[in-house]
Amino acid sequence: MEPKFVDKNVIEESYAAIGRMREMLGGARPRYFIETYGCQMNEHDSETLAGMLELIGYVRTDDRREADFILFNTCCIRDHAEKRTFGNVGFIKEIKAENPALITAVCGCMMQQREVAKRLAARFPFVDMIFGTNELAVFPQMLERVMNGGRVFEIKEIDGEIPEGLPIKRNEGFSTFVNIMYGCNNFCSYCIVPYVRGRERSRRPEDIVEEVKKAVNEEGFTEVTLLGQNVNSYDGGIKFPELLRLVNEVEGLKRLRFMTSHPKDLSHELVMAMAECDKVCEHIHLPVQSGSNRILKLMNRRYTREHYLDLIRDLREHVPGVEITTDIIVGFPTETEEDLEDTLSLVHEVGFSAAYSFAYSVREGTVAARMEGQIPEEVKKERLARLNRVIMESANGANDKYMGAEGEILIEGMDKRGEPMMFGKLPSLKMVYVKGDESMIGKYYKVRVTGTRFNSLAGEIIS
Ligand code: SAH
Ligand code: SF4
Ligand code: F3S
Repeated sequence: MEPKFVDKNVIEESYAAIGRMREMLGGARPRYFIETYGCQMNEHDSETLAGMLELIGYVRTDDRREADFILFNTCCIRDHAEKRTFGNVGFIKEIKAENPALITAVCGCMMQQREVAKRLAARFPFVDMIFGTNELAVFPQMLERVMNGGRVFEIKEIDGEIPEGLPIKRNEGFSTFVNIMYGCNNFCSYCIVPYVRGRERSRRPEDIVEEVKKAVNEEGFTEVTLLGQNVNSYDGGIKFPELLRLVNEVEGLKRLRFMTSHPKDLSHELVMAMAECDKVCEHIHLPVQSGSNRILKLMNRRYTREHYLDLIRDLREHVPGVEITTDIIVGFPTETEEDLEDTLSLVHEVGFSAAYSFAYSVREGTVAARMEGQIPEEVKKERLARLNRVIMESANGANDKYMGAEGEILIEGMDKRGEPMMFGKLPSLKMVYVKGDESMIGKYYKVRVTGTRFNSLAGEIIS
């Protein structure tokens, strides 16, 4: 299916609104504060919203108390997210009392659930703007309405349009994200994302390459992560392995990563593209969710434990040194001790270098929420603790093979606890600590691993 793009006129009108607000501010530099919850999708949306705010004339602040515009970009993947958001928005009331001109906004996945958004609007009348995940391109128009005394409540049904041509204010650092697609079609039975992010739609390869070039050449980033809920089903006229090869050619780019990969769509072509592209890092995030075939089926994941293990073999055979990270859910409806054992044994068998573990959280409107055999909270907690112990053992055991190995790290910062040490990641995502000083930040160094630390490595610089 051809993707639809946000109408050019809408984007032009947004830029016009930005110009009008800029004039309205008359050179004033109000401050904005954005708090983002959830995944990189939301992070990236926040970067786009920040880009528009900065064009209007706003400058960023990290202190919400001195802000003139406060935005919460929300997530609803698990239920405690909702409670936390309501708490944090409630806190703004005091700040608003001190600064009546303050504009407050709440957006993101949680607002895409209309009932929750209505509840939030009713409970917090001081919130000026509420909008969903599909209103990024019209944000300037909405903000202008608020500046002119209005209140905004805009949550479109997701129509699957792609916004191109909006400004982006990237978070600082050396590594950045580029969206290659939006939405998700997989409807894993536990997951809310397809309902709040809509159907899968892929950006054009040329738009993606342009954005990567700009991030590298104009903004100085050397590491790019291509982003989508399931990058393996990218279809922008070309498939994901071809896209990877295309982006790999961008001059000045040093490292290329991607996430998330769905095991059901991970092809041998992609494994080969990873193997052959020099900039693609030896790491893959491949969420397994469960080691039990019965649970995988109920989750609607559409692969088996055996298939997953085959993929791991293929990856390890062709991409030497590849590190595998994953996501795992325990306490899915009807999960038995035996199912859990299957998950724990899979963790041992694969030897993940990191695994994000979650207790199943009931999401209204999803298939799993209506399943019989919901697991009591205490049991979920206890299973999560057991899983975490196994993950820890498996991750620490996997460090020994690095002893004496050589590789390149990108220095990210200084750890000032104890003796100050610089730290940076190998392409595999393993963190290495080395001696040095802050002038090294953002640069690449070749290192040799001399020891293992808790969950990371120690090394010395070779060149
Ligand atoms: N698109 C990605 C990840 C999306 S959400 C993928 O398919 O892998 C990130 C992780 O949150 C998921 O991998 C899953 O492990 C977890 N998750 C999603 N819904 C959940 C729920 N209802 N309860 C607990 N964990 C959940
Ligand atoms: Fe959710 Fe599954 Fe889509 Fe990932 S692939 S976002 S877990 S529905
Ligand atoms: Fe949360 Fe939305 Fe991401 S629900 S995990 S922010 S896509």
